[in-house]
Amino acid sequence: MLNLREFEAAAASTVDRVHYDYLAGGAWDEVTLRDNEAAFGRLRLLPRVLRGRDKPELDVSLFGCHAASPVLMSPTAFHRLVHPEGERATARAAAATGTIMVASMAATVAIADIAAAAREAAGGVVGGVVGGGDPALWFQLYIQPDLEVTEALVARATAAGARALVVTVDSPVFGAHERDRRNGFLDLPAGMACENMRGLPGGEPDAVRPIAMSPEICWDHLDWLRQATSLPVVLKGILHPEDARLALRHGVDGLMLSNHGGRQLDTVPATIDLLPEIVAAVGGRMPVILDGGVRRGTDVVKALALGASAVGIGRPVLWGLAADGERGVRRVLELLREEVDAALALCGAGSPRDLTPDLVRRRS
Ligand code: FNR
Repeated sequence: MLNLREFEAAAASTVDRVHYDYLAGGAWDEVTLRDNEAAFGRLRLLPRVLRGRDKPELDVSLFGCHAASPVLMSPTAFHRLVHPEGERATARAAAATGTIMVASMAATVAIADIAAAAREAAGGVVGGVVGGGDPALWFQLYIQPDLEVTEALVARATAAGARALVVTVDSPVFGAHERDRRNGFLDLPAGMACENMRGLPGGEPDAVRPIAMSPEICWDHLDWLRQATSLPVVLKGILHPEDARLALRHGVDGLMLSNHGGRQLDTVPATIDLLPEIVAAVGGRMPVILDGGVRRGTDVVKALALGASAVGIGRPVLWGLAADGERGVRRVLELLREEVDAALALCGAGSPRDLTPDLVRRRS
């Protein structure tokens, strides 16, 4: 397979229709879902030439976490739905390619087991140290109104060696996915569960607690979390520039500019269209990571040029996983890396830092 689109087609023909609709779909009319990709298509790159650069360096460092590529894995739920090894396979592919993986709280493999798979794939060599250190693994958290439960989840992620918490804040209620309603897809098949939610305080030792999406969650919860953990806290799902400024005031370490892949509030803008405003609001005081609709190396370059420190991919990881397990995910990451590498060189850039907003033009 030569590009991510071919993995999408392979996944569509491999995965059960109901489950495929779950991963492909968005909220309500799927306006935002379509726009995330279309917005990249409205932008054009204007390269510089004759800059005498070396071969591009793609490495990035985020919150003390080193990665071989500016493309990271956004958190997506339920990997076992598309492959029996689920998040274990995804974690191995991430570790093998030096990619940061954000593990979802709604993973079908527990964070400790995801971390173990990543360590194993890295051959015990993490961060260049044999037997040392933690893999480039972050944990995505939905703050639960029961703070004791949230605390237990953070403790598990910390014990597993997660290097950052990505707190998703765009989900006061579940997104309305009409494809799932039509298909009657309401729950995971027997034998699969959100393993991070098993055996939490206040429940039976082996019971799996449902994930609460709660409109009660507010900045006070964030302040509480900020003092409850020493891990970097990244907010995922802030779209309004005023909220980006508030995040700074609340001691947040970074933002993931994301509209949840069009799965929460429909008709919000494409993330790439919002990026310049959010970058301006943050004013270089914390990294901004963008996800939504990234399918080509040129998309990555556009986002980096407009001020993102890195980008995330959601669905393409699941396409790779569905098509060919760990190997498929690795191939998706490698393909994108090769494309970013070539696109950077073609833009006359020696590293993501050389990309500037003047290299991006809006199609008239
Ligand atoms: C997601 N996303 C998501 N986000 C999150 O914070 N926690 C989660 O558990 C999930 N689960 C999830 C499942 C599936 C099937 C998809 C497609 C997405 C959103 C995800 O992190 C990311 O924001 C988008 O997927 C990015 O858009 P693309 O790359 O899929 O276009």
